[in-house]
Amino acid sequence: MSAYLDLAEPEPEAATDGVWLTCIECGERFAPFDAIRYTCDDCDGLLEVRYADLPTWDDFGGGSPESGPYGVWRYAAALPFDEGVSLPEGDTPLHYVPGLEEETGVNTLRVKHEGMNPTGSFKDRGMTVGVRVAEKVGVDRLACASTGNTSAALAAYGARGGMETLVLLPDGKVAAGKVAQASLHGARILEVDGNFDACLDIVQNLAERGEAYLLNSLNPFRLEGQKTIGFEIMERFHADEGTYPDRIVLPVGNAGNTAALYKCFRELREAGAIGEDDVPKLTGVQAEGSAPMVEAVEEGTDEVRRWEAVETIATAIRIGNPVNAPKALPGIRETGGTAVAVSDDEITDAQRSLAAEGVGVEPASAASVAGLRKLREEGVVDADEDVVCLTTGHLLKDPDAAYEAGSKPEPVPNDTEAVLRHINDSRSVVETVRRGGSKAADAPLLALIAGGLGLAYLYRKLRSNE
Ligand SMILES: Cc1ncc(COP(=O)(O)O)c(C=O)c1O
Ligand SMILES: [Zn+2]
Repeated sequence: MSAYLDLAEPEPEAATDGVWLTCIECGERFAPFDAIRYTCDDCDGLLEVRYADLPTWDDFGGGSPESGPYGVWRYAAALPFDEGVSLPEGDTPLHYVPGLEEETGVNTLRVKHEGMNPTGSFKDRGMTVGVRVAEKVGVDRLACASTGNTSAALAAYGARGGMETLVLLPDGKVAAGKVAQASLHGARILEVDGNFDACLDIVQNLAERGEAYLLNSLNPFRLEGQKTIGFEIMERFHADEGTYPDRIVLPVGNAGNTAALYKCFRELREAGAIGEDDVPKLTGVQAEGSAPMVEAVEEGTDEVRRWEAVETIATAIRIGNPVNAPKALPGIRETGGTAVAVSDDEITDAQRSLAAEGVGVEPASAASVAGLRKLREEGVVDADEDVVCLTTGHLLKDPDAAYEAGSKPEPVPNDTEAVLRHINDSRSVVETVRRGGSKAADAPLLALIAGGLGLAYLYRKLRSNE
């Protein structure tokens, strides 16, 4: 492990109430709230929040997941404050998915659905802490670059905290639900003629000039909130299964969650709350069209090459320059994990499979399940493993993608008999297609029927719009 990712360091004079910031590149340490800084003053390296005291399970709600408080602030002993600007967030379900568990052939598969947070993604966990820090350092304008979910969360938490919010989005590449959220919560939405990475470059420049407080995951306090995903998974999984998961599979964009989970495990280890063998293998999944982290893991390099051109249906992870890579890559390596790229079709297939178990997620989230499938096929994940897949955002975030992936509405006359005839007439066809499921493309006849139904629907829709 890099020396400066080791948490065993004495409390520096700069600390405030046992909290300080350490540069993970050069080890320089800073006071947490005396000035606004996102990276190291000396070397521009990433900063990490550090604590004089690291809590154990007993410090969280008395040590039982059944005992409140629930959500992010249950873990206040591992956070820089006792409370934040809260909606509230966290305490998301760890779903059982028996169908997918059987299909993927692992010992246990659970799905941690972060789409069940107040604005529908894990970003809320980071914002409840980040906006609290903004209050502490006394700023009144918050800003972020976003593939969508960060902007939705920032807009909501900014509104809750009574602050102005500015969000920079890649023009035309943000799912409808997310823009709607940022809009209604009153953010100023700036659509940039460029991708997410260009938006982040600009917002970093604005933040450096003191124009706004940056709440992207480059801000180390955001990751403090997000590390509570790890606490929740470990507590709940252990309570239900009597063991800790062997592996956590998660989608990767800027690699903030990967970094946050790794920090969670380092803290639990340092506090003696878990043993070395209890640390789950961090396994990152990216879309094939946007996979710089996978490239770095496969090539064994420390430097991640920035991809200028990125494209995927999973717009939330359409990111070519994962800024948290220096924190996340060691996490993947030290825990014995890996990274894998999946195609857009594999992502959509996984989205349908999750939906078939009642779990509605946006495409980026389904990447975790698609990645698990692939790694099982490749024999990288063993049959005896206990696995948690992280699903990061709710289905309704991207209604267009959901509609494309799902069954299509069938127009029927305003008449019970006709509706009945329609149901019975089309039942055999619909059932055949449904049984074909996502494998329809392998069966030309079924593909034809499905295509025919789709065309018929489109035709009727067009006619009705005339
Ligand atoms: C739904 C969803 N999944 C995954 C990610 C990627 O998370 P990270 O940047 O922490 O890797 C994002 C980030 O925007 C997201 O919105
Ligand atoms: Zn430094």
